[in-house]
Amino acid sequence: MTTVVVFGGTGYTGANVVREALARGFEVVAVSRSAPRDPVPGVRYETGPAEEVAARVVPGADAVVAALSPRGDMAGRLVEVYADLARQAAAAGARYVQVGGFSSLRPAPEAPRFVEGEIPAEYLDEALEGEATRVMLVDRAPADLDWVFVSPAGEYGAWVPGERTDSYRVGGEVALFDDEGGSRVSGEDFAAAIVDEIETPAHHRAHIGVVG
Ligand SMILES: NC(=O)c1ccc[n+]([C@@H]2O[C@H](COP(=O)([O-])OP(=O)(O)OC[C@H]3O[C@@H](n4cnc5c(N)ncnc54)[C@H](OP(=O)(O)O)[C@@H]3O)[C@@H](O)[C@H]2O)c1
Repeated sequence: MTTVVVFGGTGYTGANVVREALARGFEVVAVSRSAPRDPVPGVRYETGPAEEVAARVVPGADAVVAALSPRGDMAGRLVEVYADLARQAAAAGARYVQVGGFSSLRPAPEAPRFVEGEIPAEYLDEALEGEATRVMLVDRAPADLDWVFVSPAGEYGAWVPGERTDSYRVGGEVALFDDEGGSRVSGEDFAAAIVDEIETPAHHRAHIGVVG
């Protein structure tokens, strides 16, 4: 059976991926430092820092999803932790899906990424760190790692969960917008896109964006 290890499996993105992967019949391991408040029956929860738990869960994985966030005491630490997860995923021969931010996308081909322009102050540190994790993959991922870096829409997050529509669009590093110029995706649709990439890999060593 396919085993999916989700780092940050109790967080907003991670918990949606955990539920989606479980519903598809995958064996799911969720990693977080705190125990889950509402554990999902059938999920194996591993509690502890990613950097410590990885060595015991990644070797058995077919896919690794990195969905930590660079907030609180993780600010400034995500690149280092993700570089280690990427290395361990490569050693395990596991597909590696790393969740990043909208602002790593470009508004148009060849245009600077959003993160290189004006970003609201409250998002700036997270945007810069998310972008640094993308650069880490491009510059330093092991040559044999099958990675995909996934940016959500601009309107995405625990504060705008939205609803499942069973419909989403996947673009490259140029952001997709809807007819009104909006960019949004629900947590469940974003998770479905991630699990689809695990079930039927379509992008390899690439940056994709997912919108509803
Ligand atoms: N529109 C956008 O661009 C946008 C919006 C939202 C999120 N994002 C990105 O999506 C990613 C995920 O964000 P999110 O909001 O889903 O995260 P979140 O809800 O804050 O969840 C983070 C998860 O990671 C776990 N965690 C954090 N540090 C850990 C560590 N060292 N070891 C093990 N587990 C750890 C947390 O649990 P514990 O604290 O218990 O460990 C939690 O399960 C981030 O990269 C974020 O920047 C982008």
